[in-house]
Amino acid sequence: MDKLLITGGARLSGEIRVSGSKNAALPILAATLLGTSPVRLSNLPHLNDVTTMISLLRCMGVGVTIDERMCVEIDASSITEYEAPYELVKTMRASILVLGPLLARFGRADVSFPGGCAIGSRPVDIHLRGLEAMGATIEIDGGYIRARAPEGGLRGAHFLMDKVTVGGTENLLMAAVLANGTTVLDNAAKEPEIVDLANCLVAMGAKIKGIGSDRLEVDGVAELNGCSWSVMPDRIEAGTYLVAAAATCGSIKLKDTDADSMEAVLIKLREAGADIELGDDWISLNMHGKRPRAVSLRTAPHPAFPTDMQSQFMAMNAVAEGISQITETIFENRLIQVHELNRMGANIALEGNTALVTGVEKLKAAPVMASDLRASASLVIAGLLAEGETLVDRIYHIDRGYECIEEKMQQLGAKIRRVPG
Ligand code: EPZ
Repeated sequence: MDKLLITGGARLSGEIRVSGSKNAALPILAATLLGTSPVRLSNLPHLNDVTTMISLLRCMGVGVTIDERMCVEIDASSITEYEAPYELVKTMRASILVLGPLLARFGRADVSFPGGCAIGSRPVDIHLRGLEAMGATIEIDGGYIRARAPEGGLRGAHFLMDKVTVGGTENLLMAAVLANGTTVLDNAAKEPEIVDLANCLVAMGAKIKGIGSDRLEVDGVAELNGCSWSVMPDRIEAGTYLVAAAATCGSIKLKDTDADSMEAVLIKLREAGADIELGDDWISLNMHGKRPRAVSLRTAPHPAFPTDMQSQFMAMNAVAEGISQITETIFENRLIQVHELNRMGANIALEGNTALVTGVEKLKAAPVMASDLRASASLVIAGLLAEGETLVDRIYHIDRGYECIEEKMQQLGAKIRRVPG
């Protein structure tokens, strides 16, 4: 397994381009199953999760052509299979996002039951209850979700989600766009990636009201066309580099990004003492060489502070001035990076779902192991801050969500390289 070797001490500086959003690309790739004519997608990030979703579509017989700039044309009319097999789902839980579109368009779907992962059990009960409310019959058999639409197709329903769920909202939205009648999804998630998905569905001919709100109203249509769509910038990748620059007292500029999708993160970075300037499609951050101030945060659904940025801020807080509290409310086990950070000399105490972080002057390099995508990012940031050489193992987690992370970090002056495992 590849590793990342990081020599700490560099202040990040320079300019990089932000890639397309993984968490918008995955549902939008699934949504292409709904189109009766080809969908052309651009700004897709070169990530393992994206290639896994493309492989999943291909193994269903869907036509996929990719050009050298990773622009993808997807034609679902050639589909032959309606199954998301275990071999693919076990590597990427987001495969569950084909469930809604397959059911809506073809009336059937067999999707391997996604297991939990390092950050939590991550059930899909709300996805399934919502589809049942739309008339689907759902059986769990041999580790598979076997879903069938009623005669005549899914029926519009008024469904209240017990918890705010990004994937649940996406699956049910994609099921509703072809259902007979009107569907109302209450307590819907409002993440920017859902807005991007909804706008792409509208470009395909869907009728959706309340985009960006917690109540989505969908009038089902008979069919959806193709469209051309450029996936939104990745707000979590952007936030990760901004936090890395703040933690190293640096000064960077990000291009091809969208500040409107990351207000909570920018507010917290300003609280940490960052001087931030915004343009139409760029964000600059300058610490003027100053050590960041510790910032407390509590994760919650958008527009509150995003759980996907929690571990990165923890790495910054580990060397910031002062004491901070970080509370994780979305996933039951998403503070796991605390133990690895403490092995690098951080001073973090865990109390239930809250970490109490006392900033130290410096971290010390150590061999560490990544456990999930965003925890890996926090270890890379910690490596940038630590005296000596940090070796981060199991970086396949990172390759799922960060395009060319070592090249981009090198462009910003980091001493980092991939070591074949
Ligand atoms: C999406 O995961 C993202 N993944 C996650 O990003 C992100 O952390 C998460 O949303 C929260 O923002 C993608 O978009 C591909 P949820 P998802 O359903 O949809 C519970 C990353 O690092 N829940 O909003 O799986 C669940 O257990 C990844 O890029 C139910 O109880 O998250 C969790 O506690 C990690 N029943 C909470 O809701 C359900 O049916 C939020 O989960 C569904 C969810």
